[in-house]
Amino acid sequence: MKRAWWQEAVIYQVYLRSFKDSNGDGIGDFGGLIEKLDYLKNLGVDAIWVSPHYESPMDDNGYDISDFYQVSKDYGSIEDVKALINEAHQRDMKILFDLVLNHTSDEHPWFEAAKDKNHPDHEKYHDYYIWHKPKYDEHGHKMMPTNWRSWFGGPVWEYNESTDEYYLHIFSKKMPDLNWRSEAMKDDLKAMTLWWINQGVDGFRVDASNHLEKDWDFPDGHPGYEYFSSLPKHHEYLEEMSKEVFKPNNVMTIGEAGGATKEEALRYCGFDSDEFDMLIHFGHTWADTDNQNFLTPGKWAKGNLRLREIKESFARWYEMLGNKGWNIIYWHNHDQPRILSHYGDDGQYRKESAKMLAYTLYFMPGTPIVYQGEEIGMTNVDYQELNDFRDVEVYTEYDNFISFGASHEVAMQALRDRARDNARSPFQWSSEEYAGFSDVKPWMNVVGNYKEINLEDQLQSEDSVYQTYKHVLENRKEDDIAFGEITFIDLESEDFYIYLNKTRFATYYVVANFTGETKNLTLSESLEGYHLLHQNYPDTEVIKEMILRPYEAFVLRKK
Ligand code: NOJ
Repeated sequence: MKRAWWQEAVIYQVYLRSFKDSNGDGIGDFGGLIEKLDYLKNLGVDAIWVSPHYESPMDDNGYDISDFYQVSKDYGSIEDVKALINEAHQRDMKILFDLVLNHTSDEHPWFEAAKDKNHPDHEKYHDYYIWHKPKYDEHGHKMMPTNWRSWFGGPVWEYNESTDEYYLHIFSKKMPDLNWRSEAMKDDLKAMTLWWINQGVDGFRVDASNHLEKDWDFPDGHPGYEYFSSLPKHHEYLEEMSKEVFKPNNVMTIGEAGGATKEEALRYCGFDSDEFDMLIHFGHTWADTDNQNFLTPGKWAKGNLRLREIKESFARWYEMLGNKGWNIIYWHNHDQPRILSHYGDDGQYRKESAKMLAYTLYFMPGTPIVYQGEEIGMTNVDYQELNDFRDVEVYTEYDNFISFGASHEVAMQALRDRARDNARSPFQWSSEEYAGFSDVKPWMNVVGNYKEINLEDQLQSEDSVYQTYKHVLENRKEDDIAFGEITFIDLESEDFYIYLNKTRFATYYVVANFTGETKNLTLSESLEGYHLLHQNYPDTEVIKEMILRPYEAFVLRKK
């Protein structure tokens, strides 16, 4: 089979708002991204996934779109978008946009018409969203149609006076869900997608793609995710989009869906799938929750790391797709904490664990997505005040924690450990004020460690996390690592991350102590023919019986 460009590519995710400010308003923008294209090219990046850039009231940093056809003034203009695409193409890089099809902003003209009985277009747009009449209890008090819980922590229903109905929002209340059973609505989304394709974009990451269908019987259930996630019909919608819009125009697509079965995995992103080319899934992203914590529950509860769960998730996907589909590998995106603080150590073993994380992920097969700042070992935020946080989700969840009995300090610690904002603080370019991100105070505070952790310093040091990323990404290309065959060794181990990746040109043997403690390890493979390619301690000696120091890891290669 002929290789597709995206199988050989390294993708880099840019969270535009926090990448680089070029016009002195404290907000990252297209101008800033264009300035940094050479940097990305040099790092080894082939394609850039840009977070939503559309006009938006920014309730959810642009995932709440009020005009799909306009570029948010925070980020620039359509001319800047064209310049970005053009500049990227000149450097042989691709641009992927974030395509949000599940919801709009409540300030989108469709919703403004839909919610207002007296609006001239009310009839036309009411059906673009999902409405339900109130229920009443025995005292005649209005009740929500169901007790489903939104992904951001409150109810999924919001009452609308004008029509005496509730509308459904599975994210914030400023993000009403679109009704994919409406043909007219789908036609509008298809036309919009086509319009962006015509601007020259190379592909899309399709947001919240497994939520498009809902259970229209509206049964009760708390949180009720099964009634608005992964329902069979969402596959039909995706197929329709793909057959009518994506495939005929030859754009690459990445879906987003948690919890797929083998059959579904192939349906989403098998080589002969009619949906996506690849899929972002989440089995490895929260492998350290503590289900005994009732004060800050769910993903907010930080517990012990379950390394086996991480490896098993990757192994399951390699197994499910086999040679019938293509995997994505990534540590985290803008919705999870910084990987270094999450699965590594952002204190004493910062450098060692950042390199260990690079070796363990990036010698695996598939297409990698590097998240901005990961390549310099950026950490979680150090915010002390609740209002340092920006994410809409933080505020509903903070109130929940307090209502569950958490103290302010406990709630704040949960936010510093787990909030999405951890991954969204401004990129640390240099040790200048505001980390060289902007000349003015940024929309969100820079993390206080930017004087120790910044790109400028790391470019100058051979031993930096950045240099490791650069070399590792080079190795991927030289040796066709994306196309290799992986074998996990000691998959059950909660301490070690070990695998072989056999490519056309070489075999890689990756060994890592994933813990902050010293561990004994007997290497199971013969060391014959291997040489040491990477190591995160200067004096690692690879022998059969090893004593691995905290986070000690190395990569062996043989022809
Ligand atoms: C998934 C996105 O990654 C996340 O940031 C966003 O809040 C939701 N979808 C809603 O669009």
